[in-house]
Amino acid sequence: MMMNGKDDYIIEVNHVSMCFNAAKEKVDNFKEYIIRLATRKLYFDEFWVLNEISFKVKYGEVLGIVGYNGAGKSTLLKIIAGVMKPSKGSVIRKGSMAPLIELGAGFDMDLSARENIYLNGAILGHSRKYISDKFEQIIDFSELHSFIDMPLKNYSSGMTARLGFAIATITEPDILIIDEILAVGDFKFQQKCHDKISSMLDNNTTVIIVSHSIDQIESLCTHAIWLENGDIKLMGDAKNICKQYRLS
Ligand SMILES: Nc1ncnc2c1ncn2[C@@H]1O[C@H](COP(=O)(O)OP(=O)(O)OP(=O)(O)O)[C@@H](O)[C@H]1O
Ligand SMILES: [Mg+2]
Repeated sequence: MMMNGKDDYIIEVNHVSMCFNAAKEKVDNFKEYIIRLATRKLYFDEFWVLNEISFKVKYGEVLGIVGYNGAGKSTLLKIIAGVMKPSKGSVIRKGSMAPLIELGAGFDMDLSARENIYLNGAILGHSRKYISDKFEQIIDFSELHSFIDMPLKNYSSGMTARLGFAIATITEPDILIIDEILAVGDFKFQQKCHDKISSMLDNNTTVIIVSHSIDQIESLCTHAIWLENGDIKLMGDAKNICKQYRLS
């Protein structure tokens, strides 16, 4: 990989803003209309959850994003992953990516783990042979040997997360995007994910991780962003941001 000049950055987030439209409520009669107009409720059908967010991520950097519920963390990750288009601004990404955002989103819950591994692999653009070669490794990592032919709808959320994590990390992507999933598995699996991420870091994988576990952010991340109401409140060295966030 080129590591000079403009190629220093693997992800560039440029003035990203996101606006959601709340479903417009039906106003049944004139009286209600007047009440709503008076209480200004009619004006609240558009709200901004991210305001002009800009930052850059260098190759091999591990960026943590912290913030209270509803701060806009997941929305930002989805925009970075390309799952969602921002209302304003843009994101430049250079490299292959494994988004661990809505685990199970790419799964068909009526199919077994075995079938989902092939399905997901195909979605990610892998050949059948490639998936067959990696199959054992995925099952080993997820420790779901006894359950590979059971439909996913009978899996616990932790089991689904294990499978999702195992599939997404098998390819050694340039960029790994993780939203909260480590919180789903039991502590042993969390440790395993933690170790896997650490080993990927040795291979220079760039990681963006959202977590409510400040300990996790502190031990894994080099840098951190604190989001508050759609704004960057603080950005910088992970240890420092975590310290400030703990004090809040
Ligand atoms: N698809 C959507 N349509 C409308 N509003 C949305 C949508 N997705 C998110 N929001 C709103 O955007 C805001 C930010 O949500 P987001 O999920 O990004 O927060 P978060 O920081 O990930 O929170 P948490 O810590 O609870 O996971 C919230 O007010 C939420 O209700
Ligand atoms: Mg979230």
